[in-house]
Amino acid sequence: MISRRGFIGTLAGAGLAAAGCGVLTSETSGQGLASALPLPGPFTVPLPIPRTAVPLRPGHYEVTQRAAQVEIIPGIRTEVWGYDGTFPGPTFDLRRGSRTTIRVRNELRVPTSTHLHGGVTPADSDGYPTDLVVAAGRGFRPPQMAHARHDPAQWSYHSGARDYVYPLDQRAATLWYHDHRMDFTAPQVWRGLAGFALVRDDEDDALPLPKGERDVPLMICDRAFEEDGSFRYPSLDPSLLVRPGVRDAYMEGVEGDVILVNGAPWPVLEVDAARYRFRLLNASNARRYRLALRPGGTLVQVGSDLGLLAAPVPHESLPIAPAERYDVVVDFARYPVGSEVTLVNTLGEGAARNVMRFRVARAVEDDSAVPRRLSRIEPADRAGAVATRLFDFRRTGQGPDTAWTINGVPFTPGRPLARPRLGTTEVWRFTSDFHHPVHVHLAHFQVLSRNGRAPSPADAGWKDTVDVRPYEVVEVLVRFEGYRGRYMVHCHNLEHEDMAMMADFEII
Ligand code: C2O
Ligand code: CU
Ligand code: CU
Repeated sequence: MISRRGFIGTLAGAGLAAAGCGVLTSETSGQGLASALPLPGPFTVPLPIPRTAVPLRPGHYEVTQRAAQVEIIPGIRTEVWGYDGTFPGPTFDLRRGSRTTIRVRNELRVPTSTHLHGGVTPADSDGYPTDLVVAAGRGFRPPQMAHARHDPAQWSYHSGARDYVYPLDQRAATLWYHDHRMDFTAPQVWRGLAGFALVRDDEDDALPLPKGERDVPLMICDRAFEEDGSFRYPSLDPSLLVRPGVRDAYMEGVEGDVILVNGAPWPVLEVDAARYRFRLLNASNARRYRLALRPGGTLVQVGSDLGLLAAPVPHESLPIAPAERYDVVVDFARYPVGSEVTLVNTLGEGAARNVMRFRVARAVEDDSAVPRRLSRIEPADRAGAVATRLFDFRRTGQGPDTAWTINGVPFTPGRPLARPRLGTTEVWRFTSDFHHPVHVHLAHFQVLSRNGRAPSPADAGWKDTVDVRPYEVVEVLVRFEGYRGRYMVHCHNLEHEDMAMMADFEII
């Protein structure tokens, strides 16, 4: 087995060389991995809507992680690893305050851990990376690596299946769930282990925002494909090994050349000339996007990672880093019937500049509206903070010791970098050397400042992930509410996360 030390060692040269050609100051957050098959043309595949999970009985769901053959590129079969064998997985349509149990069964040949991203979840159900589910009949041994990061005492596993319990004592929001396995989150999410979990509540329901068929979740991510249609990914798990060494060149993160929305390449959606609510999620491993409409148009933001904003914020273009969500309203009545409106990524190159297309099909009555006041959000006030802590996201070490670290420490399960108290608020200051979308489990935050100045318009509202750009200092006001226990703060560039840019914190 390749040791992590050896693995990281081989990364040094390639990664630093890439960093030397201007990567650090550009808007690019990963390295391109080209598909080995001809790319499909854009805007031919209809936008799929993930199916809604059906409970076995009220509050109880069961979902099985398994491999399945699906058609992503027209006419070509791709093996996905999906929740219920689909990618995206089923959408869990949940209500605030209604305690939900999801039994996750693992029939894959790799261990998994499922995390509800944005969830206010007891630590035991939060999907800790070394708290695993392995397929029935498969044994599990913690990796034999001579490193404190892999202390066998920190590993545990459930055989076959386990229950995750979600009290959902939180406001309506677009959450998502995904795999969180130690060291292998990136390859396992890449293969399909991600889906939506929508939390609804009376406040959100009561607003006249677009509903039903005009409330559409859009999971945006990039992938690359092998000639035979399988997902292309440079990987190191011996059971996944695609091509030894390929991942070495991808320490910055992996960016595919095919943009998928809800698992379809550059899809098209026929729309009424009416308002639509789009729940945008960037589920990419590493790619950042700047979304805009062509030939023009406004993305009216009504929600952030964790629910409604106080008031709508119009954007001509919207940056979205991995794991961030934006709820936006687009009014297609502003385009003549027959128009084609394209959602583009102005940071992308070539085919990756396109995301998806809307065809305005027909005029309709539309009684939806975007109210000028959406919700009440307590203004972020740093005066209430009981502590200020610094988290420095940086590549450290040289040669065989180089790694993505937080405060110079590679992720070491059981070693918390902070011990905030339940019920308090703290200022967390994130600094970085590169693009690092910083995510905090359990605790929700508001952005206080960027480089000592006011946050950007896209930073509004309650969030769990913030786009920290190269050499930025971003301050957030974090509220520790919910549960005591062990949680995590980490970079949501999944390659960085797997390469140790993660830390425990413990709420006491
Ligand atoms: Cu979306 Cu710890 O992750
Ligand atoms: Cu999370
Ligand atoms: Cu990072």
